[in-house]
Amino acid sequence: KKVVLAYSGGLDTSIILKWLQDTYNCEVVTFTADLGQGEEVEPARKKAEMLGIKQIFIDDLREEFVRDYVFPMFRANAVYEGVYLLGTSIARPLIAKRQIEIAREVGADAVSHGATGKGNDQVRFELGYYGLQPDIKVIAPWREWDLNSRTKLIEYAQHHQIPVPKDKHGEAPYSMDANLLHISYEGKALENPWQEYDESMFLRTVSPENAPDVPTYIEIEYEKGDPIALNGKKLSPASMLTALNEVAGKNGIGRLDLVENRFVGMKSRGVYETPGGTIMLAAHRAMESITLDRNAGHLKDELMPRYAELIYNGFWWSPERAALQALINKTQENVSGVVRLKLYKGNVIVVGRKSDFSLYSEEHVTFEEDEVYDQRDAEGFIKLNALRLRMSAVKPDLGQAG
Ligand code: ARG
Ligand code: SIN
Repeated sequence: KKVVLAYSGGLDTSIILKWLQDTYNCEVVTFTADLGQGEEVEPARKKAEMLGIKQIFIDDLREEFVRDYVFPMFRANAVYEGVYLLGTSIARPLIAKRQIEIAREVGADAVSHGATGKGNDQVRFELGYYGLQPDIKVIAPWREWDLNSRTKLIEYAQHHQIPVPKDKHGEAPYSMDANLLHISYEGKALENPWQEYDESMFLRTVSPENAPDVPTYIEIEYEKGDPIALNGKKLSPASMLTALNEVAGKNGIGRLDLVENRFVGMKSRGVYETPGGTIMLAAHRAMESITLDRNAGHLKDELMPRYAELIYNGFWWSPERAALQALINKTQENVSGVVRLKLYKGNVIVVGRKSDFSLYSEEHVTFEEDEVYDQRDAEGFIKLNALRLRMSAVKPDLGQAG
């Protein structure tokens, strides 16, 4: 019996590792992904070795993550419940995919993860596993064991000589998830949605108040809906997002405090920092504004909440997500050009856009004289649109406004 564990090297998954060995008497294979969380992954190897693990997989998945998951999602301008940029949601399908590949490679019949039984992540991991390997056995320790609180968990760790991390104030850290796209913070004082977040918890952004008093201008070049160059310099997907995180973070861009609806039905409060992603969303929309046909654009905007919900709920590896992706990708064929942005104290301000495929016609839209548009055409256009309004018109009651 072998099980492949998605192992971060952190407290929870270290406890899980030990618990799997003790409870299932199985051989544990660990898999640690570098998704740009900003922490070294090598310490996870040391820890796994110390816990007696023989097969340890450590993969740098940063380029694949941004190229094949983050960028396709940004082509859709996907946001969940109006604002959440899906930073955790979009990483889970890749982790699940790689875990299944490793399970096949080492002949494991089971996989395991450290998500709780209350959240979204369990669903995302497991829909991924089952979608890619229908007969896989899933072990979700949080749903099985009786270590059902942080306190019990820490006692178990201390009992088994597993080091318990502390934050810079010597407290247990927030429940966090980090990758190149975002860092999420949940739990502790944040569980009260009226309580303002503690400024000192942020790792990637300064507060807008402390951002520079002079704006930073940047130019992003797009090709078929994906950013490919920053200030004239070509960058790989992961380098692009890394560079955008840097410049956005310095300018206080990308913080979000949100109460969201989890798939399992409860509401939860999360605080996120998504610096580079916040720039990418604004820049991509600006690129589309001149290159995308109106109705193609409105259609993908209508579908966007559905697409975002699929990703949030864990259905990345579903036929309907693939179908929507094909539609979205099709709309991006001419989404190429350059966007110019001004970054200032938490704001991303679009100040310019240009494209060889621009559909914008100054000649048509000008307030000055033109030779391409006949204003008289608009009269019939309006009259026919007004026809049914006139046929069904009731005289407004002058006494009653609105
Ligand atoms: N609420 C966010 C989401 O569902 C973030 C979840 C963070 N996960 C974690 N294991 N800390 O996407
Ligand atoms: C967890 O339950 O592991 C984190 C929160 C979530 O998945 O929504």
